[in-house]
Amino acid sequence: MTADRFKKVLGGLPTHAVLIGLCLIWLIPTIGLLVTSLRPFQDINQSGWWTALSPPRGAEEYSQTCGSCHGSDGKAIATADLTDAELITKYSRSIKLLAMLKQEVEGQPHLEDAPMPDQQRAADIADYLKRISGIEARPRFTLSNYVDAMMGYRGRTTYAQDCATGEQALDLTCTASDLLNPRGMGRAFLNSLLVAIPCTILPILFAAFAGYAFSWLHFRGRMWLFALLVGLQIVPLQMTLIPISRVYAQLGLNGTFVGIWLFHTGFGLPYAIYLMRNFLGSLPRDLFESAYLDGASHWTAFWRLALPLSVPAIASLAIFQFLWIWNDLLVALVFLGGQKPVLTYQISNMVSSLGAGWHLLTAAAFLSMALPMIVFFSLQRYFVRGMLAGAVKG
Ligand code: HEC
Repeated sequence: MTADRFKKVLGGLPTHAVLIGLCLIWLIPTIGLLVTSLRPFQDINQSGWWTALSPPRGAEEYSQTCGSCHGSDGKAIATADLTDAELITKYSRSIKLLAMLKQEVEGQPHLEDAPMPDQQRAADIADYLKRISGIEARPRFTLSNYVDAMMGYRGRTTYAQDCATGEQALDLTCTASDLLNPRGMGRAFLNSLLVAIPCTILPILFAAFAGYAFSWLHFRGRMWLFALLVGLQIVPLQMTLIPISRVYAQLGLNGTFVGIWLFHTGFGLPYAIYLMRNFLGSLPRDLFESAYLDGASHWTAFWRLALPLSVPAIASLAIFQFLWIWNDLLVALVFLGGQKPVLTYQISNMVSSLGAGWHLLTAAAFLSMALPMIVFFSLQRYFVRGMLAGAVKG
């Protein structure tokens, strides 16, 4: 028995190893992104996220070259207290620090017989001195990237710091109203909601009506119409962008929410109708027939019977439709562009072409992920059902 069991465990090992490996491949970049988004931007520019918990830059160099005389806390020589901010401001840059170290102290070389640090080591030491003297004391982890991304702030330092010194760049006022400025993720979040919620509700509502009609109303050409609708899914979205945006230009709908609501509703419908019809068609026939016998109209049967019973199908449709709209960049770019920036648009605008400001990108990515994660985890059980919903019955 034990041998059997042993074999079983051993046989399962490769599968487990592959699974764990796959999970890691998925998780590691995400964790890296999360850690990066929580680090101060100076650190992000200097070192990778995996060094987030290692000692600060320059600590090792300092203790090797300077620690023997100045002590590990920099206070050992009273006349040259390295934690004194005023003193360190004079040597805050590596060139100045090196020049000072080359001068003699009471007729002796400053470092005595220790070798002179090279440019890079001097820069690291200068950086470390700035930290212990408090000129540039910064926490290991901070939320400032998130604040800056919400405000779309790209100044010399962080939003909070620049507001405290009154040196804020751009036209920000340092009040809550900054959250709604057109460059920030705060405004974009609202816009994304204004796009995604109607674009989820509208197609599903229409699809529920249509699905009911296709399964319980008997009219001529029903199957043909349904086949046509399903066939419509073949039309690639990209192909219609230009014709529709020309129509919108004539109607004045470019850059309006109504325009994008119509577009997403139209493109969401074929699949939604297909799924709703399959679901509603698979409900027990007796149920509807006895309702009709009792004198229920189609209207009552739809609201009282069909809709409550199709909650699982509606929920899974809603999840997929919502996620697709939330993550869509193409349609939002064409029909809303910079006039009503949504999250995806704002993220793509966050980094300049030279790569500056990418610390904002990490936080922005997590801000845009937050809502889908909440939707996913709260409606998780509908996901599996949703994936099966289209396959149960043709
Ligand atoms: C051999 C011992 C020794 C070592 C090693 C040493 N120092 Fe010093 N350092 C001194 C002494 C002694 C003074 C005090 C000079 C004085 O009193 O004016 C001093 C002064 C200073 C001052 C103040 C200079 C000023 O203008 O007042 C700074 C800054 C400083 N050291 C930085 C460093 C750094 C950075 C290192 C490592 C790269 C280092 N020291 C390594 C002995 C040392």
